[in-house]
Amino acid sequence: MPIKNTTDNYGSIAKWFHWLTAVLFLASYSAVYFRHWFTVKETPENWIALQLHLSVGVSIAVIVVLRIIWRIINRVPNPEPGTSAEHLAAHIGHYMLYAIMLIMVVTGYIGTGVSTDYFFIFEIVKFEHTKLFSTLVGEGLGITFKEFEKPVDSIHKDLLGAWLVWLLILGHVMAALYHHYIKKDRTIYKMTRDKNN
Ligand code: HEM
Ligand code: HEM
Repeated sequence: MPIKNTTDNYGSIAKWFHWLTAVLFLASYSAVYFRHWFTVKETPENWIALQLHLSVGVSIAVIVVLRIIWRIINRVPNPEPGTSAEHLAAHIGHYMLYAIMLIMVVTGYIGTGVSTDYFFIFEIVKFEHTKLFSTLVGEGLGITFKEFEKPVDSIHKDLLGAWLVWLLILGHVMAALYHHYIKKDRTIYKMTRDKNN
């Protein structure tokens, strides 16, 4: 399987990035909803579920940065035949997915009141304790972490996490199924197969 994207297909690296991100999104949501629905506050399970959400989230952050670099230095496979409106919608959808991945990991990290114990291996210091926070937020905006955390948290959890991310992913998956079952083109194969079939 070619490593780089070709005219017909995504290469192995783009495929790995794509499917790993999809699995990690699911894991991130599972951890945070498990915490809310099935654990009691201030118990070890509650803490472990939160730390798993943070660790998976940080992993997504690293992957998305590498993925964007790889995307920039690589060609994109040719689109399947379609109207210019369809191609535009696909472009906008993909850019929005990249944007949402970045915004979720940034708002997650900067709005978190605890440090990340990355898969219980090493600690990643919380934003509040970084020089960047004291320079930009403490001195720059002249507000405390508590004041800063509120709006950031509501973007992460209420605005995007609860709604927009789900809607975008749902739209993305529906578009993939539409290509596969209605238009009957190769769109899904570009992300799953390595030959021109
Ligand atoms: C793409 C990655 C991420 C997704 C999809 C995501 C999604 C969510 C969602 C949906 C919630 C709200 C749960 C609820 O209140 O019902 C949440 C809460 C939270 N997220 Fe994330 N998040 C991501 C990355 C991160 C990262 C990187 C961090 C920090 C390093 C983080 C820290 C938090 C914290 C502290 C909460 C509050 C936990 C709670 O109230 O139980 N998230 N996240
Ligand atoms: C079962 C779930 C999923 C399916 C079936 C799926 C399917 C696909 C397919 C077929 C493509 C290629 C589209 C094309 O070439 O026009 C694609 C691209 C893409 N997908 Fe997904 N996807 C899924 C989940 C996700 C998730 C969870 C994310 C991110 C949160 C995501 C982000 C992207 C992005 C950003 C691209 C554009 C890649 C590029 O051109 O750089 N996908 N997906």
